[in-house]
Amino acid sequence: MRIISGIQPTGQLHIGNYLGAIKQWTELQNKEECIFFIADLHSLTVPYEPKELQNNILEAAIAYLAAGIDPSKSIFFVQSKVKEHTELTWILNSVCPVGDLERMIQFKEKAKQFKKNINAGLLTYPTLMAADILLYKAESVPVGKDQVQHIELAREIARRFNQRYGKTFPEPKPLLSEGAKIMSLTDPKKKMSKSSGPEGCLFLFDEPETIRKKIMSAVTDTGKEVKFSARTKPGISNLLIVYSLISGKKVKELEGEFKNKNYSEFKKSLAEALVNFLEPFRNKKRELVSRKIYIDEILRMGANKARSLAESTMQEVSSKTGLM
Ligand code: TYM
Repeated sequence: MRIISGIQPTGQLHIGNYLGAIKQWTELQNKEECIFFIADLHSLTVPYEPKELQNNILEAAIAYLAAGIDPSKSIFFVQSKVKEHTELTWILNSVCPVGDLERMIQFKEKAKQFKKNINAGLLTYPTLMAADILLYKAESVPVGKDQVQHIELAREIARRFNQRYGKTFPEPKPLLSEGAKIMSLTDPKKKMSKSSGPEGCLFLFDEPETIRKKIMSAVTDTGKEVKFSARTKPGISNLLIVYSLISGKKVKELEGEFKNKNYSEFKKSLAEALVNFLEPFRNKKRELVSRKIYIDEILRMGANKARSLAESTMQEVSSKTGLM
């Protein structure tokens, strides 16, 4: 099975990105054919600082590698270095109804958030995402819950293209993990996201003191019992999911372990577990920061491999659409 996924280079990765997406990727790369990329073209659709973009891409590459993406097992590259992504986007734009794009929750949210910059890229963002996936004829896309609607649209676009031009693309499916929606530490009713405030995010490379501080001050619920209930105890439930995913223990097991303990004891234990869990990430990052040439080479080789797959799909697409 061919797997594909990407992350935007918009600053530091948080544990939502890790538990929702990258953790699955590191497991999948041992058994499937995996392609992972840094979605720099997507990041142009919201306000950003051009001078900082290259550095953000490098930071994202370091984060991927530190979190366990192995370039000897997966194809790993920067999206804009394979021009076929934008080429296929145009063709897919021509089979995608505008109404479908206008329905996208992320488009509506971003249009509200960036009222002064509702650019066409913000609207056609999902066709670029569909191109990312279909270009490699990927069947499965490991993502967090917030991206599911986009993958469903990619399925619909594949279906429409196949109907119009003949069977070309498989219909991709989202692959969700138990960490598909990690909530904010400061507002557990909202998903963890940089755009809703860095205080609510636990970043992959946060130092131990910051981790302890953020977990100890994470918003919890009234009551004392460490028990899972997404509806009545969203704060504790979110922390239980994080604890479960990083420790490999089931939520029920953790509830038993903290049965006669209070929130503070639970949080202290979780903070220490996170400090230990994230230590290898911090160490690996420190090691990679001084190896820019090595990282550039990995990305260059990855782009070459990706390009050769992409070129072959584009030949087929050009031929079927009458462009060749
Ligand atoms: P991005 O960069 O916003 O997020 C990267 C991945 O992290 C997941 N994620 C979360 N998972 C669980 N809990 C959270 N709080 C949380 N926040 C983020 C996202 O679901 C995502 O899997 N459009 C995509 C990037 C992209 C892409 C693609 C993905 C571009 N092309 C093609 C798959 C296939 C995005 O902006 O993700």
